[in-house]
Amino acid sequence: MPEGVVAVLRERLGSVEWYPEPQGGQLKHLIAAAGGSVTGWAAGSTGEDSAAGHDGSVTAEGGSVTGEAVAPAVVPLDPARVVVGNGACELIHLLCHVLSPRNALVPAPSFSEYERAVRACGGTVNRLPLSPEEGFQLVVEKLRQELARHHYDLLFLANPNNPTGTLTPPDEMDAIFRVAAGHGTFVLVDESFLGFLPDWPRFTALRHLPSVGDHLMVLNSFTKLYCLPGLRLGCAVAPPPLVERMEAARDPWAVNTLAQLAGIQCLQETRYVQRTHVLIPEFRHRLATGLESLPGIQVFPSAANFLLCRLVAGSVTSLARQLARRLILIRNCSSFPGLGDSYFRVGVRLPDENQTLVNALADVLERPDSP
Ligand SMILES: Cc1ncc(COP(=O)(O)O)c(C=O)c1O
Repeated sequence: MPEGVVAVLRERLGSVEWYPEPQGGQLKHLIAAAGGSVTGWAAGSTGEDSAAGHDGSVTAEGGSVTGEAVAPAVVPLDPARVVVGNGACELIHLLCHVLSPRNALVPAPSFSEYERAVRACGGTVNRLPLSPEEGFQLVVEKLRQELARHHYDLLFLANPNNPTGTLTPPDEMDAIFRVAAGHGTFVLVDESFLGFLPDWPRFTALRHLPSVGDHLMVLNSFTKLYCLPGLRLGCAVAPPPLVERMEAARDPWAVNTLAQLAGIQCLQETRYVQRTHVLIPEFRHRLATGLESLPGIQVFPSAANFLLCRLVAGSVTSLARQLARRLILIRNCSSFPGLGDSYFRVGVRLPDENQTLVNALADVLERPDSP
């Protein structure tokens, strides 16, 4: 979490004695001014900040980053297009509550809350399988065929996707939006992990708002990039009438005072974001190289702050149990549709922690029956 956010939370703890500003108040206006993104004005790393001299932190505190503010990547928006939520998750459920989709299409594997939210509203879900042979990449032609075969009210796309870390390139997104609009399918693009990419402005669906704005909601989360999952803060950009319906359908104080203050501070954390843009790709590359050097582990390329891995032989349940005994937790992915007991996901952490994971995995794989 950025030090600046810690300081704000400490200083402003007393503000919980009052009700929060309804509908996100000032934060909503600042997100709109930043073009709808949670990265604020950190529109992309300059790439000049080499990894040398890093203090070992994935965060931006006290590093060697020059910290020049970069111009906003996207144009300021009308605040009427922005909705702030108690985590991105609340906004997924709220969207489904308001749209009441009869049927939705979800790539599989992907974030499980999409399916849960549709079912909670009485809708049905079809899955578009992503295959390991295609690196779990979304294949536009298959999506096109599915949208033509069956009418869907709602399509979910996470970019990058969780747990695969795959990124859909801008030209493919263009094609998807055109096809979906042609079939009257509303698209939710979830960019909760996009802020980790130095060149996120090239990929964001916020660029498409002028052309397909009526059929599109772009979702984002503060909890990933700024490491605030316990505070709960997300936002989305959607057509103003839809935002109005979402606001009307919910608790006006869903986003608590401290989360709003933290969000306002996050939007000013340019250095933190720039440093993350330098460190995450480097640490991810080193972790992937370490994991790939282990016999029996396949690592899938990822654009996010995690890596999806496959155990070529054996069971992840047993592997996870042995690692847990060493106080190392990996995410067993068997609960994701389309992934069995051979897939797991690991987070990109500090180099020492990443090396500890690689060493422990090497040990367990070498002596699978060891305690
Ligand atoms: C793709 C994706 N979107 C949204 C979320 C939820 O984000 P939040 O913590 O802001 O509710 C997650 C959580 O893992 C996720 O993987």
